[in-house]
Amino acid sequence: MRSSFAPGKIILSGEYAVVFGYFGLAVSSSIGIEAAFENDDSEPQIEIIWRGAKETHINYAKKIAALCEKDARKFRGRLVINSNLPVGKGMGSSTALIIAVSRALLGENAKENARLIEDTLNPGNSGLDFTTIWENAPILYCKSADAKIISLPSDLLREAVLIDTGLPDETTSELVAWMQRRKSEVLNELEIIDECTKRLVAGDSLPAVMREHNKAQVALGVVPPRVAKMIAEIESAGGAAKVIGAGGRAGGAGMVLALGDKTWIRKIASRENMPVTLL
Ligand code: MEV
Repeated sequence: MRSSFAPGKIILSGEYAVVFGYFGLAVSSSIGIEAAFENDDSEPQIEIIWRGAKETHINYAKKIAALCEKDARKFRGRLVINSNLPVGKGMGSSTALIIAVSRALLGENAKENARLIEDTLNPGNSGLDFTTIWENAPILYCKSADAKIISLPSDLLREAVLIDTGLPDETTSELVAWMQRRKSEVLNELEIIDECTKRLVAGDSLPAVMREHNKAQVALGVVPPRVAKMIAEIESAGGAAKVIGAGGRAGGAGMVLALGDKTWIRKIASRENMPVTLL
């Protein structure tokens, strides 16, 4: 029996900028995905047991297991998966599943295999999600340099909450490809986001940086109007908020990280029927 755990991630600064070689900063979450593989040679193949999961998620786990088998022996037995990570909402659930399953099947040295699977299933990814989730640590990331585990104030997110704004209509890979086609139009926003990352590393106030960062994400077109309005209301009430992943053009924008008076934040989010959870 081999077990593994992969956390989710929260990007504090850097969405899309990291795809183009700028800096980004992310932390791992306490919630995540567990996978446990029990070898059983009497089984013809691998059976995936994931209670409560949708068929599409189980099929995705099957795809990852098949990619793990590519250069290795065929796996026979049971792969049990448990997750409390919201799926498709900017917390890195797809990457966490790749890492949890790869480690359960191939062991702790599966980093290169897992990275290849990430590139196959999530084309165009920058590597920020992968590195943060693999290391389970705060990561300062830039494509052209070695990622750095950095220490952040332990109380940085103590008062933070997550607001579930719903599933985006587009996949992250679709949004990244859309941004790549518009690179020359969005350079200014990418540079602002890079600057936000550098300000956080220099110890600037998180709420102040989040307000700037959110403005740039809105200008990039990945914060749907309903979510942008909700964030603006949180700001008017003295708080700060930002989308923590790829966001979306239509539909929801996944999870929003919010700081400020929790009573007000709950009130504002509930007007839009958006559930709030503590971090
Ligand atoms: C997705 O979590 C973050 C993006 O910057 C894409 C990536 O870095 O791979 C939008």
